[in-house]
Amino acid sequence: MENKIYPVPAEVAKRAHADAATYQKMYAESVESPDTFWMKEAKRLDWISPPTKAGNWTYEYPDVSIKWYEDGTLNVSANCIDRHLEKRGDQTAIIWEGDDPSEDAHITYSQLHDQVCRLANVMKANGVKKGDRVTIYMPMIPEASYAMLACARIGAVHSIVFGGFSPDALAQRIVDCESTFVITADEGLRGGKKVPLKQNADNAIEIAAIQGIHVEHVICVKRTGGAIGWEPGRDIWYGEATQAASPDCPPEPMNAEDPLFILYTSGSTGQPKGVLHTTGGYLVWAAMTHQYVFDYHEGDIYWCTADVGWVTGHSYIVYGPLANGAITLMFEGVPNYPDNSRFWQVCDKHKVNIFYTAPTAIRALMQHGDGPVKATDRSSLRLLGTVGEPINPEAWEWYYHAVGNGNCPIVDTWWQTETGGHMITPLPGATDLKPGSATTPFFGVVPQLVDNEGAELTGAASGNLCITASWPGQMRTVYGDHERFVQTYFSTYKGKYFTGDGCRRDEDGYYWITGRVDDVINVSGHRMGTAEVESALVLHPAVSESAVVGFPHDIKGQGIYCYVTLMDGVEATDDLRKELRNHVRSEIGPIASPDAIQWAPGLPKTRSGKIMRRILRKIAENDYGSLGDTSTLADPSVVDDLIENRQNR
Ligand code: WT7
Repeated sequence: MENKIYPVPAEVAKRAHADAATYQKMYAESVESPDTFWMKEAKRLDWISPPTKAGNWTYEYPDVSIKWYEDGTLNVSANCIDRHLEKRGDQTAIIWEGDDPSEDAHITYSQLHDQVCRLANVMKANGVKKGDRVTIYMPMIPEASYAMLACARIGAVHSIVFGGFSPDALAQRIVDCESTFVITADEGLRGGKKVPLKQNADNAIEIAAIQGIHVEHVICVKRTGGAIGWEPGRDIWYGEATQAASPDCPPEPMNAEDPLFILYTSGSTGQPKGVLHTTGGYLVWAAMTHQYVFDYHEGDIYWCTADVGWVTGHSYIVYGPLANGAITLMFEGVPNYPDNSRFWQVCDKHKVNIFYTAPTAIRALMQHGDGPVKATDRSSLRLLGTVGEPINPEAWEWYYHAVGNGNCPIVDTWWQTETGGHMITPLPGATDLKPGSATTPFFGVVPQLVDNEGAELTGAASGNLCITASWPGQMRTVYGDHERFVQTYFSTYKGKYFTGDGCRRDEDGYYWITGRVDDVINVSGHRMGTAEVESALVLHPAVSESAVVGFPHDIKGQGIYCYVTLMDGVEATDDLRKELRNHVRSEIGPIASPDAIQWAPGLPKTRSGKIMRRILRKIAENDYGSLGDTSTLADPSVVDDLIENRQNR
């Protein structure tokens, strides 16, 4: 199956922004004359004062510094809204589809302008200034995008925290960036179930206060009308305040390198990192990739099913599409509510042309067979996309044939929170597809495979994926900790950006991402540090020690497998297992729910006390044949016990 190739259909190449020859030519220019190339691309934005130079960066360890368009001035919200008003004021900017199929809305670019300006004025009136950090903890409602764009309009830096995160996780993120302003909603609605956002935010604010960060204001959208707590003087109703505010708010001129947003992501340590993206380069990258990778043309209806709490929602629901004057669909619900046809019903209802989702959603729907798909028409679809984790060829083929009727190219887009946008991806009019491969690099991207010692591997090879030249959408630093940025990404292989991914390049130069090579696991396309789950587990009084690893999971890609050593005298019961599971959910959030918890009287450690995770991974994977050398363990007998008591998942 791996050798199967789907060539570019002639009619797709013909209408595309780039066919194969154009891709070759542009790619060559982008890596041979990056300055010329990126100065041209800067013109896709409206600048208050245009830049006179493109990249100014060094990966030289330890003096890593990255700047793009550093003398340019612009405003992101003006680029996403104001500049479209003349031509597209009455065109839909956002189609909103509610959790309940009877609820939807169309928001035009003029209405978007009105809403964003009002909210920006409310924020200003309540003391938010340029450079201040604003935490957004919202359901998938249009107000979430108004909040992002209102921040961008006044130069505030947003930090969105996914609505599935717990009060503790939210508090940690509020404290890390010293954010004193929160935008939330009374409750979220997902698959018919309510999510207590305001209550979680209230709890998080209390936790943050204990740590010295005092949130001054909370703007709250009324989504469900459910009962919530209210703190007069601090809390502000979104609806009332924006109605009373002026619909006119001039955009703040921002330097291209001023921060646009912080987004926390998991790494190999317990503490999430605040990935910082800036203004000019990020927007060029988001807009350009959105145009070329989705081959976006005027009037196309485009739907990315991500949540704005993840980078995919930032770049490909809001910033990229709106910078391009696109029609972007925002979905509040889930793929299986009210039933397993929902995605395709929404495609039919809104005549979606371009559809972008995650492999985990495809696999979850695939297990219900073709019925729920074939019950719908889907004839509006022209292009399909995936993101977040490797897609197995079986799921790719099902997506292509059952969903796309064999008519829609699939763009398998590899990228990361850190990269701002697509990095390795097909262009639909230019790239022959191989199911399971993210194919070839986007303009300006220079991938390199290295062995564990950092030596470059050429030709067909497998190794660690690095990028050797900066691109405009790259993250600039870890918020408040540049040293950590340099250590995390530039110290393993000096002079290169290390992605943390393993990768194979085939004889055609196609890239096949094989997954993380660090202690990060990818659960349903969500990134999770094993150390974060371990930290949460040991906070429980019954737990003495824990080790967490990923294992292959049919739907989620990877599942979370926890080895837990209990305190002396604590009884290992199924009830305790349930309790620990709930404990992790409340510490981090439902996305971190352990799939398996195994009692481990001892963990395999070296004589110097280091846990041998390789062995734990093999046991979780049910792969005992290749445990490797266990003779260096302090107590080799623990391995037999672990194998014997392995949990079925
Ligand atoms: C990690 C980044 C990019 C937005 C969503 C996830 C994995 C992402 C692919 C893909 C294989 C992929 C990588 C990467 N990943 N896309 N198309 N094929 N793997 O962003 O949370 O920052 O996670 O997701 O392992 O490093 P993220």
